[in-house]
Amino acid sequence: MMRLDRYLCETGFGTRSQVKALLKKGLVQVDGEIVKKPELKIDENRAQVFCGGAAAVYQKYVYLMMNKPPGVLSATEDRRQKTVLDLVEGPVPDGLFPVGRLDKDTEGLLLLTNDGELAHRLLSPKKHVDKIYEAKVEGRVTEEHVRRFEEGLDIGEKKLTLPAALEILSSGEESRVRVTIREGKFHQIKRMFEAVGCRVLWLKRLSMGSLRLDGSLEPGEYRTLKPEEIERLKEQT
Ligand code: URA
Repeated sequence: MMRLDRYLCETGFGTRSQVKALLKKGLVQVDGEIVKKPELKIDENRAQVFCGGAAAVYQKYVYLMMNKPPGVLSATEDRRQKTVLDLVEGPVPDGLFPVGRLDKDTEGLLLLTNDGELAHRLLSPKKHVDKIYEAKVEGRVTEEHVRRFEEGLDIGEKKLTLPAALEILSSGEESRVRVTIREGKFHQIKRMFEAVGCRVLWLKRLSMGSLRLDGSLEPGEYRTLKPEEIERLKEQT
């Protein structure tokens, strides 16, 4: 059960005060009756709610795919710096947080959800969910590096990194690569390249498990996941 005003906020009808105004105007119907009380408790899974003629569709969890722009923190709040939650328009659903962290300067796929269980499973070191990144690297990346990424690298942790697939897209004074890792240590990709004498200049995450960054999202844009994307992520973890 939840309060009607909260329910209307969570189904996208506005902020608490906007929703209260809609209620006051008699624009909200619950199970065929006009209701004006914001504090009315409704069963969010059963109630038939209309607001201004539009049906409210309640989803317990929210799943957003964001193309994180560089320069924004993967955090829920920060006193000084912009966070990915600041990019979410309208009322931010309760408990929304980024699943894992991308560095401030890293771009690309970031999943935001309030489904703590799925997030936990995606991040669990035991699950080895593949993450694919594209990077621009200072230094010539060679087949020798490919072999060393595959063998595991000493990045100053107790254990070597798990085998990672390094694909060379172009090699020169600056190289372009694609890397697949199955863990998520702090600054992992940057530290892996440091371990072989290169420096990451630019980094973008392309995928996390079955979830691929939607190429139509400009940096800073996001969209809700499609039901099949959610299903595939759940199946995988
Ligand atoms: N590895 C990094 O070094 N940084 C990221 O943001 C993600 C992976």
